[in-house]
Amino acid sequence: MSQVDSSAGASDVLVSFRGVQKSYDGENLIVKDLNLDIRKGEFLTLLGPSGSGKTTSLMMLAGFETPTAGEIQLAGRSINNVPPHKRDIGMVFQNYALFPHMTVAENLAFPLTVRGLNKSDVSDRVKRVLSMVQLDTFAQRYPAQLSGGQQQRVALARALVFEPQLVLMDEPLGALDKQLREHMQMEIKHLHQRLGVTVVYVTHDQGEALTMSDRVAVFHQGEIQQIAPPRTLYEEPKNTFVANFIGENNRLNGRLHSHTGDRCLVELGRGEKVEALAVNVGKPGEPVTLSIRPERVSLNGASEQCVNRFSGRVAEFIYLGDHVRVRLEVCGKNDFFVKQPIAELDPGLAVGDVVPLGWQVEHVRALDPLLEAN
Ligand SMILES: Nc1ncnc2c1ncn2[C@@H]1O[C@H](COP(=O)(O)OP(=O)(O)OP(=O)(O)O)[C@@H](O)[C@H]1O
Ligand SMILES: [Mg+2]
Repeated sequence: MSQVDSSAGASDVLVSFRGVQKSYDGENLIVKDLNLDIRKGEFLTLLGPSGSGKTTSLMMLAGFETPTAGEIQLAGRSINNVPPHKRDIGMVFQNYALFPHMTVAENLAFPLTVRGLNKSDVSDRVKRVLSMVQLDTFAQRYPAQLSGGQQQRVALARALVFEPQLVLMDEPLGALDKQLREHMQMEIKHLHQRLGVTVVYVTHDQGEALTMSDRVAVFHQGEIQQIAPPRTLYEEPKNTFVANFIGENNRLNGRLHSHTGDRCLVELGRGEKVEALAVNVGKPGEPVTLSIRPERVSLNGASEQCVNRFSGRVAEFIYLGDHVRVRLEVCGKNDFFVKQPIAELDPGLAVGDVVPLGWQVEHVRALDPLLEAN
């Protein structure tokens, strides 16, 4: 599925991928037909499973890989023939590779000296960027004398010190433990807000993508499946891949019975009928996968208001502190999950109970069929 984002005006666009393809072996397309506009000042994340083409796309933008076809524009100008060091792009990678024999200050001065800045400008800028990442007192340390998070902050400072218009980050927090990673996510996000620099960020961690980004582009097999702000991506997935990849998702397989306007009726395997939003369906008789978020399912009395009402047998409770995940057998599926805030859970509910449950039409999306083997 190729996608041109037409909502951004031409002057708002900093980077434009136009029909970009990449093959490493001349046979298989790793990036199939990338059409993507990145807006000035936005935080855009490329999210997708391993091998989906995220790094390849970023490397083409950085200039370390050449597109097999198509064009990449930066500020309205084709950069296909511009070498990496002339693209004015800052970069941070997972193995941030600070120069070990240089102090923090020398590491930060390096990109400025190679650009020919004079000594006093270099020293001013290094000071400024060090205070920006709150490492003022660390200027004379060597990388080996810093923690992982501090090293990552130096790497970030080094990508920003020459004030590029665009910063690329490829899994920059992958090597950090969870707590530090979450801390750095907020730091990078706030830094982005303060500086207004355009960031293209790559991760395969959906929580990270949803936390940090203005928009997220979901990659799968070299194609963008959907590009949208985090909330839209979660609440309004356009296809089954995105519905499954972002967040938790109950799937029910059936066939399209009828279709009227933006609603449709889907018949499940045992003849149950579900009224759903017709998001990505074919013709009557064709297979459909329904997608329902676990927090959108009501149990017991709360289900009485729902258009779609069924019953489920409780199979398991999974306590997660603030909420409970209840696994039920519903419509022939034994891995149907319902998420309940702990305060709303009926304390009398037990494994083996059969309970009424339901969901509203606006919370069930009829999407392209997923073969269960996948
Ligand atoms: N230099 C290369 N030569 C040949 N094939 C490559 C090269 N770099 C990447 N590939 C292949 O291209 C595909 C996409 O790789 P890419 O690194 O872009 O994926 P990714 O989405 O960044 O994955 P990950 O999340 O694992 O980093 C993979 O199948 C990979 O094996
Ligand atoms: Mg990668």
